[in-house]
Amino acid sequence: MKNHSRKSHLILIFILIFLRISEACHPIDKQALLNFKKLITYDPSSLLKTWIPQTDCCKSWDGISCDFSSDRVVNLSRPGVFSDDDSPVDTFMSGTLSPFLGNLSFLQVLDLSSLKSLKGSIPPELGKLSRLNYMSLDSNNLTGSIPNTFHKLYQLKSLYLNNNRLSGSIPQVLFRNLTSLSNLGLSGNQLSGPIPSSIGNLVTLTNLDLHDNNLSGKIPETTGQLKNLVYLDLSENQLHGKIPQSIGSLSKLVELYLNGNLLTGNIPSSIDGLSSLQYLRLSENELTGSIPPSIGNLPRIRSLIFENNRLNGNLPATIGHLTTLNDIYFSNNMFTGKIPSSLGNLKNLQSLDLSRNQFSGPIPSQLIKLQNLQELDLSFNPLGLEKIPVWFQKLHLFRLLLASTGLEGELPKWLSSSSLASLDLSSNSLTGKLPSWIGNMTNLSFLNLSNNGFHSSIPDEFKNLTLLTDIDLHSNKLSGNLKSIFSKTSEFARGHYNTIDLSNNMFVGPIDENNGDEPVMEFLESLILSHNPLRGNIPKSLGKLSYLEVLELVGNGVTGQIPEELASAKTLKTILLSKNSLSGQIPGEVLNLEYLQNFDVSRNRLRGKIPGHKSVIPVSAFLGNPGLCGAPLPPCKNS
Ligand SMILES: *[C@@H]1O[C@H](CO)[C@@H](O)[C@H](O)[C@H]1NC(C)=O
Ligand SMILES: *[C@@H]1O[C@H](CO)[C@@H](O)[C@H](O)[C@H]1NC(C)=O
Ligand SMILES: *[C@@H]1O[C@H](CO)[C@@H](O)[C@H](O)[C@H]1NC(C)=O
Ligand SMILES: *[C@@H]1O[C@H](CO)[C@@H](O)[C@H](O)[C@H]1NC(C)=O
Ligand SMILES: *[C@@H]1O[C@H](CO)[C@@H](O)[C@H](O)[C@H]1NC(C)=O
Ligand SMILES: *[C@@H]1O[C@H](CO)[C@@H](O)[C@H](O)[C@H]1NC(C)=O
Ligand SMILES: *[C@@H]1O[C@H](CO)[C@@H](O)[C@H](O)[C@H]1NC(C)=O
Ligand SMILES: *[C@@H]1O[C@H](CO)[C@@H](O)[C@H](O)[C@H]1NC(C)=O
Ligand SMILES: *[C@@H]1O[C@H](CO)[C@@H](O)[C@H](O)[C@H]1NC(C)=O
Repeated sequence: MKNHSRKSHLILIFILIFLRISEACHPIDKQALLNFKKLITYDPSSLLKTWIPQTDCCKSWDGISCDFSSDRVVNLSRPGVFSDDDSPVDTFMSGTLSPFLGNLSFLQVLDLSSLKSLKGSIPPELGKLSRLNYMSLDSNNLTGSIPNTFHKLYQLKSLYLNNNRLSGSIPQVLFRNLTSLSNLGLSGNQLSGPIPSSIGNLVTLTNLDLHDNNLSGKIPETTGQLKNLVYLDLSENQLHGKIPQSIGSLSKLVELYLNGNLLTGNIPSSIDGLSSLQYLRLSENELTGSIPPSIGNLPRIRSLIFENNRLNGNLPATIGHLTTLNDIYFSNNMFTGKIPSSLGNLKNLQSLDLSRNQFSGPIPSQLIKLQNLQELDLSFNPLGLEKIPVWFQKLHLFRLLLASTGLEGELPKWLSSSSLASLDLSSNSLTGKLPSWIGNMTNLSFLNLSNNGFHSSIPDEFKNLTLLTDIDLHSNKLSGNLKSIFSKTSEFARGHYNTIDLSNNMFVGPIDENNGDEPVMEFLESLILSHNPLRGNIPKSLGKLSYLEVLELVGNGVTGQIPEELASAKTLKTILLSKNSLSGQIPGEVLNLEYLQNFDVSRNRLRGKIPGHKSVIPVSAFLGNPGLCGAPLPPCKNS
């Protein structure tokens, strides 16, 4: 009897185990998952093909894992972009999120990120997933607001809802009880209203990303309680008011981005509390006052980006203590005084951009110690330089920008042996010839010498600038023909022109008929030759420039017809041909170019009816052509 009962017990256990093996999936979980699948309307990469009702969700369903002891689904993850060996496969799914997912009450991981087309709102039922520690629904098309119920997800460590179309405000209750949260990503949505001050409760938070929303109000003072923060990004919102003094308590913070808001007031002097900070971006705000000298106590800082504010006063000499700095971007503020000589101590500095301020000269020669400097932009400062300091040749710059800094006289010859890739000396009073040794600056890809007094022809050696892609020589007194510019050599596609501006000089034409066939012109986007006595015709071959967006030939004395072949340059947005001697009719194809925005043929000798066109072109664009008629000009007499 005893034996028999033990035997039947064993059989029973065996049967139970067998049953479990054959079907571990809990019926509630299975129903929830099948309901999720039902609301997926399109699954082109068959992410759910193994989710077959007759099979065991714990065993054979991709993206599902169960817990052995409870037999409940703990992980549901079908994110897009699978790294299949070395080539990632971009995946996609459309449909809405089933409220049944809220019945997966043992779920710990829910990852339905990067599926791109999950839409509709986030079901409030997901707030029932009280065991959840990871939720990612980012990079979908979800709308509506963040459910209030999420405050119950008190085991949650990571919540990512980035890159959807969520709107409404962040619920104040959300942060009340999420005491385990360490990663919160809500960026790239349309969330509005203030950042709830309850955010200060999330004391375990290490990463907080709310950038690119419509959040308004002030940065809560309570942000200073988030002592574990490593990454804080509140950029690209509508936040206003001051940066709270409390921010200085964030001693673990490595990256701080507050750019692109409406922040006012000073940079807080508490900034020196950010002892782990490496990247600080405060650009595109309305910050005022001077930089606090305490900034000199940031022992790890690599990047200071303060451009486009209204900061003023002298730069504190303490910046020279920041020997870990790689980048300084302070452009477009109201800084005054001299450039501190202590900047010469920044031995790791690679970029120094102090352009568009009110710095006065001279440039401290201590900067010669910046042997890692690659980019120096001091443009648009009243530096009164007169000459580029000779010691600049000891630097190893790739980019040198000294526009409007009071330079005079001729180009210094030492430039010929520099390895500069970008040189901008525009808007100065440079004179003399464009020297033939300019052809030795073979690493140049960007050259801006506009708004100076250079008077010569373009030397033949110019052709040797095989990497040059952008050239701006407008508003000088340059003369001669354009051959060495248009028939420049290039090193394969690198060195094909991108933009050319030679306007307001005394260059003579005609423009070579085959200009548009030159390989070096193939990728040209902008050709501006206005106000030069070019004469001749507009070459038909310009129509072959399939990237051309801007063509400006104003006041060039060109004759002949507007070639209808121009209409083959489908990307054209701007065509300005006024003040010439063009004759014949306006080709309808040109006037109907798909992207045409600016068109002006006024003051020519064009005739006939203006072809019908979709883009709104003002009357003024056609005036001064006695033979033209039809809308927007008065109707033609006998048509
Ligand atoms: C669930 O997912 C987490 C995180 O992706 C992973 O560490 C864990 O091993 C998974 N659990 C099971 C049972 O697969
Ligand atoms: C699961 O969730 C849905 C919707 O939230 C509900 O209608 C259903 O009754 C729940 N229970 C079970 C056992 O599926
Ligand atoms: C997201 O939704 C908008 C509006 O319904 C739609 O235009 C867009 O194509 C959708 N994007 C994706 C990736 O499904
Ligand atoms: C807050 O979290 C604790 C666990 O940390 C939990 O026991 C409690 O129910 C939660 N309270 C609310 C109102 O969600
Ligand atoms: C977000 O702000 C932008 C710019 O201020 C505005 O154009 C847009 O309508 C706002 N969107 C919402 C959903 O509030
Ligand atoms: C151009 O740049 C390369 C790589 O930066 C450098 O090795 C070379 O010396 C430079 N050439 C000239 C002419 O300066
Ligand atoms: C050259 O510099 C002038 C200002 O000095 C600027 O207006 C122009 O846009 C610059 N050209 C290019 C191609 O950047
Ligand atoms: C320019 O390069 C040529 C050829 O390499 C050389 O003979 C000449 O001395 C160089 N000119 C200058 C000013 O460096
Ligand atoms: C530079 O151009 C001149 C004139 O076109 C040419 O004679 C010379 O060989 C070129 N120098 C180099 C280094 O290519």
